Formats: sequence, structure tokens, C-alpha cells
Amino acid sequence: MDKKEFEKIKELYDNGNNEIVPGHSFENHVLKVYENMKKIIPDEDVDREVLEYATLLHDVGRCYERNCGHAEKGAELAEEFLIDDLGRNKKFADRVSECIRHHSNRPHLEPPNREAEILWIADKMHAMGATGLCRFLMTLGAKNYSCDEAVRFLKQRVLDAEERARDFGFDDMVEGLDPLKDFVKRYEEENHAPD
Ligand SMILES: [Fe+2]
Ligand SMILES: [Fe+2]
Repeated sequence: MDKKEFEKIKELYDNGNNEIVPGHSFENHVLKVYENMKKIIPDEDVDREVLEYATLLHDVGRCYERNCGHAEKGAELAEEFLIDDLGRNKKFADRVSECIRHHSNRPHLEPPNREAEILWIADKMHAMGATGLCRFLMTLGAKNYSCDEAVRFLKQRVLDAEERARDFGFDDMVEGLDPLKDFVKRYEEENHAPD
């Protein structure tokens, strides 16, 4: 991808309805996911060009939609952008857009190919560790979740992420979820005393 196209993608994140929260911005999140993807692909037999565009465009839907629908919205926007603005063919745009559509955690949206699985894990790696915990709580705080609701949601997300990461063959990345698990455990110990 040339510099001009990269700048055009970056500009897309500055447009929209300003729905994006700091923990999900282009600089603070999308570029980190891009770095994660680059670390993963040397050992993978994948279409690198599809993954590059899919990674950089994966959260563009968040500019318009904060909730789970951002993956679908992003898939539509990316397809339109690749065809209309970058002059790419429909087949390429579809492949990029499929990865974006399947990067959310919705159970019925299992990634359909290896490129989509890699985008999913690269995104999830930025939701792990102390950084991931901080981003998660900031995001739910911006949506007015209570502490109990946020931790319940986090607990479920951790379980789902662990299962999927193992399914996709990324067992060595599961330990990144430990800080999140420890946090949930300590929160429950402090706030839910046994009867
Ligand atoms: Fe996302
Ligand atoms: Fe993301």
C-alpha cells in the first residue's frame, strides 16, 4: 500500500459521527492491531494484501456505530471505499470486507478463513494484558455501564476469547488474558461476599 492510500484510510477515521472513543482511535488502536498482524503473518500462508487493508480498515465502522454493529457497518464502508475511492475490483473488496464483518465477537460470526482469524486475534491481542483491561473499562465507561455490568461482560469476553484463540491455534497468546482473569477474580472477591 502506498503512503497516499494509507493517508486516505487514516482520514476515514477522522470523519463520521465522532462515535469513536480514545481507546479505539486509529493511532491508539488500529495501528497497534496492524503491528500485531505483521508479527503473526511471517509463518502464515495468507493473502497479505487483503490483511493489510482489512486491518487498517477494521474499525472504521466505529466512527458511526459504537456497539456490536460496527463490524457490519465497517464492512460496508470498506467495500465502498475500496471500490469507489481506491479503484480496487469487487472481488478484492469483498475479501477485505468479509474479514472486517467477522472480526467482532458475535458467536454467529465465526471467521470464515485464515485471514479473518488472523485479524480477529491481532485485534484481540490489543484487548489483552493491562492495556486491554484499561481499554475495555474505558470503552464500557463511555457507554455508562455500571462496575458490576462491566465485569460481568469482561468475564464472558475472556472466556469466549480463550476458546476462540485456542480454536484458531493461538494457544501461546492465551496467557495475555491472565491480567484480565486476575482482575475479575479480585473484583468478585471484593464485591460478592459469600452468603
Ligand atoms: Fe472492532
Ligand atoms: Fe479493533
